[in-house]
Amino acid sequence: MKADKNLVNMPTIGFGTYLIPNEEAQKTIKTALKIGYRHIDTAEVYRNEVGIGLGLKDTFSQLSLKRDEVFITSKVFPGNPSWGRAPKNYKMCLEACDSSLERLNLDYLDCYLIHAPFCKDLRLEQWQALCDLKKEGKTRTIGVSNYSQLHIQEIINEGLEVPEYNQIELHPWCQKEELVSFLKEKNIKVVAYSSLVPLEGWRAKPNQDSAKSQSMKEHGADNSSPFKRMSKKYGVSEAQILLKWGLQMGFVILPKSSDENRIRENFDLSFQIDDSDMKEISTMDKGDGIAWPNGDPCNSE
Ligand SMILES: NC(=O)c1ccc[n+]([C@@H]2O[C@H](COP(=O)([O-])OP(=O)(O)OC[C@H]3O[C@@H](n4cnc5c(N)ncnc54)[C@H](OP(=O)(O)O)[C@@H]3O)[C@@H](O)[C@H]2O)c1
Repeated sequence: MKADKNLVNMPTIGFGTYLIPNEEAQKTIKTALKIGYRHIDTAEVYRNEVGIGLGLKDTFSQLSLKRDEVFITSKVFPGNPSWGRAPKNYKMCLEACDSSLERLNLDYLDCYLIHAPFCKDLRLEQWQALCDLKKEGKTRTIGVSNYSQLHIQEIINEGLEVPEYNQIELHPWCQKEELVSFLKEKNIKVVAYSSLVPLEGWRAKPNQDSAKSQSMKEHGADNSSPFKRMSKKYGVSEAQILLKWGLQMGFVILPKSSDENRIRENFDLSFQIDDSDMKEISTMDKGDGIAWPNGDPCNSE
Protein backbone atom coordinates (compact mmCIF):
# COMPACT_ATOMS: atom_id res chain seq x y z
CA MET A 1 0.00 0.00 0.00
CA LYS A 2 1.30 3.44 -0.89
CA ALA A 3 0.85 6.54 1.25
CA ASP A 4 -2.48 8.26 0.68
CA LYS A 5 -2.07 12.02 0.48
CA ASN A 6 -5.24 12.88 2.45
CA LEU A 7 -4.31 11.61 5.89
CA VAL A 8 -3.69 13.43 9.17
CA ASN A 9 -1.30 16.38 9.46
CA MET A 10 1.48 16.07 12.02
CA PRO A 11 -0.27 16.30 15.44
CA THR A 12 1.25 19.03 17.62
CA ILE A 13 1.96 16.68 20.55
CA GLY A 14 4.10 13.72 19.51
CA PHE A 15 5.51 10.95 21.68
CA GLY A 16 9.33 10.93 21.81
CA THR A 17 11.01 7.53 22.02
CA TYR A 18 14.76 8.17 22.31
CA LEU A 19 16.15 6.00 25.17
CA ILE A 20 13.07 3.77 25.25
CA PRO A 21 14.67 0.33 24.86
CA ASN A 22 13.32 -1.94 22.16
CA GLU A 23 12.07 -4.46 24.74
CA GLU A 24 9.99 -1.77 26.51
CA ALA A 25 8.79 0.02 23.39
CA GLN A 26 5.85 -2.29 22.64
CA LYS A 27 4.25 -1.67 26.06
CA THR A 28 5.11 2.04 26.21
CA ILE A 29 3.72 2.79 22.76
CA LYS A 30 0.46 1.04 23.68
CA THR A 31 0.25 3.20 26.82
CA ALA A 32 0.87 6.41 24.86
CA LEU A 33 -1.70 5.54 22.19
CA LYS A 34 -4.29 4.60 24.85
CA ILE A 35 -3.76 7.96 26.54
CA GLY A 36 -4.41 9.70 23.22
CA TYR A 37 -1.08 10.38 21.49
CA ARG A 38 -1.43 10.05 17.72
CA HIS A 39 2.12 10.91 16.71
CA ILE A 40 5.21 8.78 17.39
CA ASP A 41 8.79 9.93 16.81
CA THR A 42 11.55 7.37 16.31
CA ALA A 43 14.77 6.92 14.31
CA GLU A 44 16.93 4.09 13.01
CA VAL A 45 19.57 4.92 15.66
CA TYR A 46 17.10 4.62 18.56
CA ARG A 47 17.07 0.84 17.91
CA ASN A 48 13.47 0.53 19.05
CA GLU A 49 11.59 0.41 15.75
CA VAL A 50 10.77 -3.31 16.11
CA GLY A 51 9.20 -2.77 19.55
CA ILE A 52 7.32 0.27 18.31
CA GLY A 53 6.00 -1.72 15.34
CA LEU A 54 4.71 -4.42 17.72
CA GLY A 55 3.07 -1.78 19.94
CA LEU A 56 1.37 -0.24 16.92
CA LYS A 57 0.17 -3.64 15.70
CA ASP A 58 -1.37 -4.49 19.11
CA THR A 59 -3.04 -1.12 19.38
CA PHE A 60 -4.43 -1.19 15.85
CA SER A 61 -6.27 -4.40 16.76
CA GLN A 62 -7.15 -3.68 20.42
CA LEU A 63 -8.25 -0.02 20.11
CA SER A 64 -9.69 -0.31 16.60
CA LEU A 65 -7.25 2.40 15.61
CA LYS A 66 -6.48 2.63 11.92
CA ARG A 67 -3.02 3.09 10.48
CA ASP A 68 -4.07 6.42 8.97
CA GLU A 69 -5.01 7.80 12.41
CA VAL A 70 -1.45 7.68 13.72
CA PHE A 71 1.39 9.85 12.41
CA ILE A 72 4.73 8.03 12.43
CA THR A 73 8.10 9.68 11.93
CA SER A 74 11.44 7.95 11.51
CA LYS A 75 14.87 9.28 10.60
CA VAL A 76 17.79 8.11 8.51
CA PHE A 77 21.16 8.39 10.23
CA PRO A 78 23.28 10.05 7.54
CA GLY A 79 26.65 8.79 8.82
CA ASN A 80 29.32 10.97 10.37
CA PRO A 81 32.90 10.80 9.07
CA SER A 82 34.29 12.49 12.19
CA TRP A 83 32.83 9.67 14.35
CA GLY A 84 34.08 7.00 11.96
CA ARG A 85 30.51 6.36 10.74
CA ALA A 86 30.52 6.00 6.95
CA PRO A 87 28.36 8.57 5.14
CA LYS A 88 25.26 7.17 3.46
CA ASN A 89 24.95 7.73 -0.29
CA TYR A 90 21.68 8.01 -2.25
CA LYS A 91 21.14 4.26 -2.50
CA MET A 92 21.94 3.66 1.17
CA CYS A 93 19.32 6.24 2.20
CA LEU A 94 16.68 4.44 0.11
CA GLU A 95 17.70 1.15 1.74
CA ALA A 96 17.62 2.70 5.23
CA CYS A 97 13.99 3.72 4.68
CA ASP A 98 13.06 0.20 3.54
CA SER A 99 14.76 -1.23 6.64
CA SER A 100 12.91 1.14 8.97
CA LEU A 101 9.60 0.21 7.30
CA GLU A 102 10.40 -3.45 7.70
CA ARG A 103 11.34 -3.09 11.39
CA LEU A 104 8.23 -0.99 12.07
CA ASN A 105 6.13 -3.47 10.06
CA LEU A 106 4.59 -0.58 8.10
CA ASP A 107 3.93 0.09 4.40
CA TYR A 108 4.68 3.79 4.62
CA LEU A 109 5.90 6.47 7.02
CA ASP A 110 4.11 9.76 7.62
CA CYS A 111 7.38 11.62 7.87
CA TYR A 112 10.98 10.73 7.12
CA LEU A 113 13.81 13.00 8.24
CA ILE A 114 17.57 13.24 7.75
CA HIS A 115 18.72 13.03 11.37
CA ALA A 116 21.52 15.62 11.15
CA PRO A 117 23.56 17.57 8.58
CA PHE A 118 26.73 15.60 9.29
CA CYS A 119 27.81 14.71 5.75
CA LYS A 120 28.76 17.89 3.93
CA ASP A 121 29.69 16.15 0.67
CA LEU A 122 26.62 13.92 0.48
CA ARG A 123 23.94 16.16 2.01
CA LEU A 124 22.24 17.04 -1.28
CA GLU A 125 22.37 13.46 -2.52
CA GLN A 126 20.80 12.31 0.77
CA TRP A 127 18.06 14.92 0.39
CA GLN A 128 17.42 13.83 -3.21
CA ALA A 129 16.88 10.29 -1.89
CA LEU A 130 14.21 11.54 0.53
CA CYS A 131 12.49 13.48 -2.28
CA ASP A 132 12.38 10.27 -4.33
CA LEU A 133 11.10 8.21 -1.37
CA LYS A 134 8.22 10.66 -1.09
CA LYS A 135 7.49 10.37 -4.83
CA GLU A 136 7.45 6.57 -4.48
CA GLY A 137 4.89 6.82 -1.63
CA LYS A 138 7.19 5.30 1.01
CA THR A 139 6.72 8.43 3.13
CA ARG A 140 3.98 11.04 3.01
CA THR A 141 6.19 13.96 4.02
CA ILE A 142 9.92 14.65 4.32
CA GLY A 143 12.11 16.94 6.34
CA VAL A 144 15.40 17.44 8.10
CA SER A 145 16.63 17.60 11.66
CA ASN A 146 19.34 19.74 13.25
CA TYR A 147 19.72 21.78 10.04
CA SER A 148 20.79 25.43 10.27
CA GLN A 149 19.78 28.20 7.83
CA LEU A 150 22.92 27.41 5.78
CA HIS A 151 22.09 23.72 5.45
CA ILE A 152 18.55 24.51 4.34
CA GLN A 153 19.65 27.28 2.00
CA GLU A 154 21.93 24.72 0.32
CA ILE A 155 18.81 22.69 -0.62
CA ILE A 156 16.90 25.77 -1.76
CA ASN A 157 19.85 26.98 -3.90
CA GLU A 158 19.89 23.62 -5.65
CA GLY A 159 16.21 24.05 -6.59
CA LEU A 160 15.19 20.88 -4.74
CA GLU A 161 11.93 20.45 -2.83
CA VAL A 162 11.99 22.52 0.38
CA PRO A 163 11.88 20.37 3.56
CA GLU A 164 8.46 20.34 5.23
CA TYR A 165 9.94 20.13 8.77
CA ASN A 166 13.09 20.86 10.71
CA GLN A 167 13.31 19.02 14.04
CA ILE A 168 15.66 20.91 16.36
CA GLU A 169 16.50 21.28 20.05
CA LEU A 170 14.30 24.05 21.47
CA HIS A 171 13.45 25.00 25.04
CA PRO A 172 13.71 28.17 27.10
CA TRP A 173 17.51 27.81 27.39
CA CYS A 174 17.93 27.22 23.65
CA GLN A 175 15.52 29.38 21.66
CA LYS A 176 17.30 29.66 18.25
CA GLU A 177 15.34 32.80 17.45
CA GLU A 178 16.96 33.51 14.06
CA LEU A 179 16.65 29.95 12.84
CA VAL A 180 13.01 29.77 13.96
CA SER A 181 12.09 32.98 12.09
CA PHE A 182 13.93 31.73 8.99
CA LEU A 183 11.96 28.46 9.13
CA LYS A 184 8.66 30.31 9.56
CA GLU A 185 9.52 32.58 6.62
CA LYS A 186 10.22 29.53 4.43
CA ASN A 187 7.03 27.82 5.64
CA ILE A 188 8.98 24.97 7.26
CA LYS A 189 7.23 23.51 10.30
CA VAL A 190 9.30 23.69 13.50
CA VAL A 191 9.44 20.50 15.57
CA ALA A 192 11.01 20.94 19.02
CA TYR A 193 12.95 18.19 20.77
CA SER A 194 14.31 17.93 24.32
CA SER A 195 11.74 20.47 25.56
CA LEU A 196 12.31 19.25 29.14
CA VAL A 197 16.07 19.95 29.36
CA PRO A 198 15.65 22.59 32.11
CA LEU A 199 14.15 20.00 34.51
CA GLU A 200 16.56 18.86 37.20
CA GLY A 201 15.77 15.21 36.44
CA TRP A 202 16.14 15.39 32.64
CA ARG A 203 17.73 12.11 31.44
CA ALA A 204 19.15 11.75 34.95
CA LYS A 205 18.63 7.98 35.34
CA PRO A 206 21.66 5.68 34.92
CA ASN A 207 22.61 4.81 31.32
CA GLN A 208 20.70 7.71 29.82
CA ASP A 209 23.81 9.15 28.12
CA SER A 210 22.90 12.64 29.18
CA ALA A 211 25.14 15.44 28.03
CA LYS A 212 23.55 17.49 30.72
CA SER A 213 25.19 15.99 33.80
CA GLN A 214 28.35 17.71 32.57
CA SER A 215 26.82 21.02 31.64
CA MET A 216 23.90 21.31 34.08
CA LYS A 217 25.64 23.64 36.48
CA GLU A 218 26.90 25.82 33.64
CA HIS A 219 23.33 26.08 32.44
CA GLY A 220 22.05 27.04 35.86
CA ALA A 221 19.49 24.37 36.76
CA ASP A 222 18.79 24.81 40.44
CA ASN A 223 16.01 25.07 42.95
CA SER A 224 15.30 28.74 42.27
CA SER A 225 13.98 27.94 38.77
CA PRO A 226 11.25 30.40 37.67
CA PHE A 227 9.43 27.33 36.33
CA LYS A 228 8.82 26.31 39.96
CA ARG A 229 7.05 29.66 40.55
CA MET A 230 5.02 29.27 37.35
CA SER A 231 4.15 25.69 38.20
CA LYS A 232 2.53 26.89 41.46
CA LYS A 233 0.78 29.80 39.71
CA TYR A 234 -0.89 27.61 37.06
CA GLY A 235 -1.33 24.52 39.24
CA VAL A 236 0.57 22.31 36.77
CA SER A 237 4.00 20.66 36.78
CA GLU A 238 7.21 22.31 35.57
CA ALA A 239 7.24 19.80 32.71
CA GLN A 240 3.80 21.01 31.62
CA ILE A 241 5.03 24.65 31.67
CA LEU A 242 7.98 23.76 29.42
CA LEU A 243 5.81 21.80 27.01
CA LYS A 244 3.08 24.43 26.88
CA TRP A 245 5.73 27.08 26.16
CA GLY A 246 6.72 25.06 23.08
CA LEU A 247 3.12 24.82 21.89
CA GLN A 248 2.47 28.55 22.48
CA MET A 249 5.63 29.29 20.44
CA GLY A 250 3.98 27.41 17.57
CA PHE A 251 6.22 24.32 17.74
CA VAL A 252 5.29 20.67 17.53
CA ILE A 253 6.57 19.01 20.74
CA LEU A 254 7.81 15.44 21.37
CA PRO A 255 7.89 14.69 25.12
CA LYS A 256 9.42 11.32 26.02
CA SER A 257 8.67 9.45 29.21
CA SER A 258 8.75 5.84 30.28
CA ASP A 259 6.36 6.53 33.16
CA GLU A 260 2.61 6.21 32.60
CA ASN A 261 1.66 9.11 34.89
CA ARG A 262 4.14 11.42 33.19
CA ILE A 263 3.05 10.27 29.73
CA ARG A 264 -0.50 11.27 30.71
CA GLU A 265 0.59 14.57 32.32
CA ASN A 266 2.63 15.58 29.25
CA PHE A 267 -0.46 15.18 27.07
CA ASP A 268 -2.63 17.35 29.34
CA LEU A 269 -1.76 20.90 28.33
CA SER A 270 -5.12 22.66 28.39
CA PHE A 271 -4.02 25.80 30.23
CA GLN A 272 -2.48 29.03 28.99
CA ILE A 273 0.79 30.72 30.01
CA ASP A 274 0.07 34.43 30.20
CA ASP A 275 1.96 37.12 28.24
CA SER A 276 4.07 38.31 31.17
CA ASP A 277 5.39 34.79 31.86
CA MET A 278 5.97 34.17 28.12
CA LYS A 279 7.96 37.41 28.13
CA GLU A 280 10.01 36.31 31.13
CA ILE A 281 10.76 32.96 29.46
CA SER A 282 11.88 34.78 26.29
CA THR A 283 14.78 36.27 28.30
CA MET A 284 16.15 32.86 29.40
CA ASP A 285 17.97 31.89 26.20
CA LYS A 286 21.50 30.61 26.83
CA GLY A 287 22.50 29.69 23.27
CA ASP A 288 23.21 26.30 21.71
CA GLY A 289 21.46 23.05 22.52
CA ILE A 290 22.95 20.58 24.99
CA ALA A 291 21.16 17.32 24.21
CA TRP A 292 23.92 15.93 21.97
CA PRO A 293 27.14 15.07 23.85
CA ASN A 294 29.37 16.46 21.05
CA GLY A 295 27.65 19.81 20.75
CA ASP A 296 24.60 21.13 18.90
CA PRO A 297 24.59 19.44 15.46
CA CYS A 298 23.05 22.59 13.91
CA ASN A 299 26.62 23.94 14.04
CA SER A 300 27.95 21.21 11.71
CA GLU A 301 30.04 22.50 8.80
N1 LIG B 1 16.35 14.86 16.11
C1 LIG B 1 17.18 14.80 17.13
O1 LIG B 1 18.40 14.97 17.02
C2 LIG B 1 16.62 14.50 18.49
C3 LIG B 1 17.43 14.63 19.62
C4 LIG B 1 16.86 14.38 20.87
C5 LIG B 1 15.54 14.01 20.97
N2 LIG B 1 14.77 13.84 19.84
C6 LIG B 1 13.34 13.40 19.92
O2 LIG B 1 12.66 14.22 20.84
C7 LIG B 1 12.16 13.42 21.92
C8 LIG B 1 12.17 14.19 23.24
O3 LIG B 1 13.45 14.61 23.59
P1 LIG B 1 14.31 13.94 24.77
O4 LIG B 1 13.96 12.49 24.83
O5 LIG B 1 15.69 14.35 24.54
O6 LIG B 1 13.87 14.65 26.08
P2 LIG B 1 12.51 15.21 26.75
O7 LIG B 1 11.30 14.57 26.21
O8 LIG B 1 12.64 16.68 26.69
O9 LIG B 1 12.76 14.74 28.26
C9 LIG B 1 12.83 13.39 28.64
C10 LIG B 1 13.33 13.35 30.09
O10 LIG B 1 12.42 14.05 30.94
C11 LIG B 1 11.83 13.14 31.89
N3 LIG B 1 10.40 13.48 31.96
C12 LIG B 1 9.46 13.28 31.02
N4 LIG B 1 8.27 13.74 31.41
C13 LIG B 1 8.45 14.24 32.67
C14 LIG B 1 7.59 14.86 33.59
N5 LIG B 1 6.30 15.06 33.32
N6 LIG B 1 8.11 15.25 34.79
C15 LIG B 1 9.43 15.06 35.08
N7 LIG B 1 10.29 14.49 34.22
C16 LIG B 1 9.81 14.09 33.01
C17 LIG B 1 12.09 11.75 31.33
O11 LIG B 1 12.21 10.79 32.35
P3 LIG B 1 11.26 9.47 32.41
O12 LIG B 1 11.33 8.79 31.07
O13 LIG B 1 11.87 8.69 33.51
O14 LIG B 1 9.88 9.97 32.71
C18 LIG B 1 13.45 11.95 30.65
O15 LIG B 1 14.50 11.95 31.60
C19 LIG B 1 13.08 12.19 21.90
O16 LIG B 1 12.57 11.12 22.64
C20 LIG B 1 13.20 11.96 20.42
O17 LIG B 1 12.03 11.35 19.91
C21 LIG B 1 15.29 14.11 18.62
